Amino acid sequence: MPRTEFISTGLYVPDRVVKNDEFTQWMDTSDEWIRTRTGITERRWAAVGQTGADMACEATKLALQRAGLKAADLDCIIYCTLSPDHFFPGTGVFLQRNLGLAGIPCLDVRNQCTGFLYGLSIADGWIRSGQYKRILLVGSEVHSTGMDLTTRGRDLAVLFGDGAGVAILGPTEADGRGVLSTHLFADGHYAELLFCDAPASARHPRLSQDDIETARIFPVMNGKEVFKHASTRMPESVRLALDTNHLAASDIKILIPHQANLRISEMVRRQLDLREDQVFNNIQRYGNTTAGSIPIALDECVQGGLLGRGDLLVLAAFGSGFTWGSAAIRW
Ligand code: ACO
Repeated sequence: MPRTEFISTGLYVPDRVVKNDEFTQWMDTSDEWIRTRTGITERRWAAVGQTGADMACEATKLALQRAGLKAADLDCIIYCTLSPDHFFPGTGVFLQRNLGLAGIPCLDVRNQCTGFLYGLSIADGWIRSGQYKRILLVGSEVHSTGMDLTTRGRDLAVLFGDGAGVAILGPTEADGRGVLSTHLFADGHYAELLFCDAPASARHPRLSQDDIETARIFPVMNGKEVFKHASTRMPESVRLALDTNHLAASDIKILIPHQANLRISEMVRRQLDLREDQVFNNIQRYGNTTAGSIPIALDECVQGGLLGRGDLLVLAAFGSGFTWGSAAIRW
């Protein structure tokens, strides 16, 4: 049976840079608070009318060009996001249309910050079984249109950024290379700890004036609980990935933790006893781009020459749901 390899990667972030200081015109916050609590100094915001599918399309064009492939070579799209362009249909079909494709399947994955790992696990199964040979795996988010930019929403508004990252995946027979394992988890007992209540088909009606006035249309988070679970679950998942493959933390060339908070990444690093150069972070420049965070970071690692053939790459994520997991990849 073949394994799944990363044929190429790509990223796109919008041009607009929003520095921490900009938030002070809307809410009671400061660059110092944001930097010391989260590590973030700036993030990108999409232009008016620029969608998640538009950003994913730009990232895909780059990945196709790097792979020497055409859009028509893709045989499946898996689109991971928590901020779909529309309630329905899924955003994958809008990306498919932007790419000038029709007919190939488009699957949307709604697993928030762990979305890219869930998508990778599905893609890996399809590729190993021979069902598809060139899967476009996407993580793309537009958060800027859904944030409460008042002091009431300051705990979340400053954390998130917009952007897209993609990977083109295919089969490899090369000895030992490719995706070695994926491990996925979820616990719905915590669903409301990082949550957006409206619009929702669980509400009657889905969206009311009251939802808007009482801010139910904006996400809410129990930051301390998220912090506690994220900094435990991610190292736990990485240890599982390593144990499953009879590897040690010292074997890791690069660990990409989901970019939620620099302090969480640092706790993950310490718990795994990793050196600083083994853990990649770029949250400082992009904020938390949720499903986009791992593929954006991965593309920067690849373009920065941090991964060579045969290196061990480990991915770990944690997010709303709660959902979490890991993947081990022999590059
Ligand atoms: N600017 C200034 N003050 C703020 C801001 C802000 N942007 N946001 C919150 N505060 C205030 C709070 O209101 C609180 O004020 P109070 O003491 O008067 O009530 C004070 O700062 C301290 O708040 P805490 O919640 O205790 O701050 P904490 O040190 O826990 O940091 C943070 C908050 C950064 C959100 C932290 O809990 C965290 O990072 N949690 C993890 C959440 C996360 O990463 N979420 C990302 C999405 S999920 C994911 O991707 C995994």
